[in-house]
Amino acid sequence: MHSYSLLAPAKINLYLQILGDRADGYHELSMILQSIELADQVHLRANGTTEFRVHCTHAEVPTDQSNLAYRAAILMATEFADAYNTLGGVDIVIDKRIPVGAGLAGGSTDAAAVLVGLDLMWNLGLTQVELQELAERLGSDVPFCVSGGTAIATGRGEKLAPLPTIEPLYVLLGKYRSLSVSTAWAYQTYRKQFQHTYFSDADRQAGKRPDVHSGSLVSAVNQRHRTQVGTLLHNDLEKVVLPAHSQVEHLRQAMQALQPLGTMMSGSGPTVFALVETLEQANAMRSQLQQTLPDSDLELWVTQFIAHGIQPIN
Ligand code: C5P
Repeated sequence: MHSYSLLAPAKINLYLQILGDRADGYHELSMILQSIELADQVHLRANGTTEFRVHCTHAEVPTDQSNLAYRAAILMATEFADAYNTLGGVDIVIDKRIPVGAGLAGGSTDAAAVLVGLDLMWNLGLTQVELQELAERLGSDVPFCVSGGTAIATGRGEKLAPLPTIEPLYVLLGKYRSLSVSTAWAYQTYRKQFQHTYFSDADRQAGKRPDVHSGSLVSAVNQRHRTQVGTLLHNDLEKVVLPAHSQVEHLRQAMQALQPLGTMMSGSGPTVFALVETLEQANAMRSQLQQTLPDSDLELWVTQFIAHGIQPIN
């Protein structure tokens, strides 16, 4: 086929613990990641030239080589030069529904969609593991975005162990449109403030890794215990992002006051989310927040857990 369209879901972090510095300059992490129904659509179409051209419906998203989806296409063209030389360049159209700079892996999931889409378009027959190895070279969240669902992620975030997905479980997301947080800034600020708490050597970091696997949140997810999942949400990056952005702190408090199962910031923020059992509760909570925090800059979405990552749209 000359064109493919793919669904590229966002993710939230149910758990994010920073264990220490890595030799490669990144942080050693223990996370639990969850795909949600809120998704971009990525359309790929052979353009009969040698170029990759990115178009995006969101004006703030760059379309040059700083766009991870573009870098994904270049990586595929380099790795599979025969296919690229035979089949040529591709137009990549990103229909952006996931907020940008939000801690929801919007850029990473678009890149994952390009990997999966070009694999299909060029008939490469790559396995999930091969796709995830390519994904790792683009960014820490990209391997998870390929497979999606629910997973423990360790290392930089690229070592994945699948978990069952609790369905249905509803999510209310809140983000101030004009506010975004740089992931690099969040990690660097955390390092400045909390380096004294880091596990300094690789062996001790690796020794902490099994803690998340045998921890109470993983057991709550395995048992599909929604109330416990809500109370065990955790994100170390809240310690630097919330003090820097009081609006986000207030939004989190306003969500928590409505007594959901739990409230947490996702990734490096500034999106915060609340978990609730039913769609009715999620919609009611959205209406209540619109009343308690009347601000046209505040965007709210009702979505839910899903058990998959990138999927072709028929
Ligand atoms: O891997 P990715 O490009 O998404 O990471 C963005 C930034 O977040 C990195 O440049 C780094 O500053 C920080 N980061 C980190 N440790 C990780 C993942 C990301 O320090 N495990």
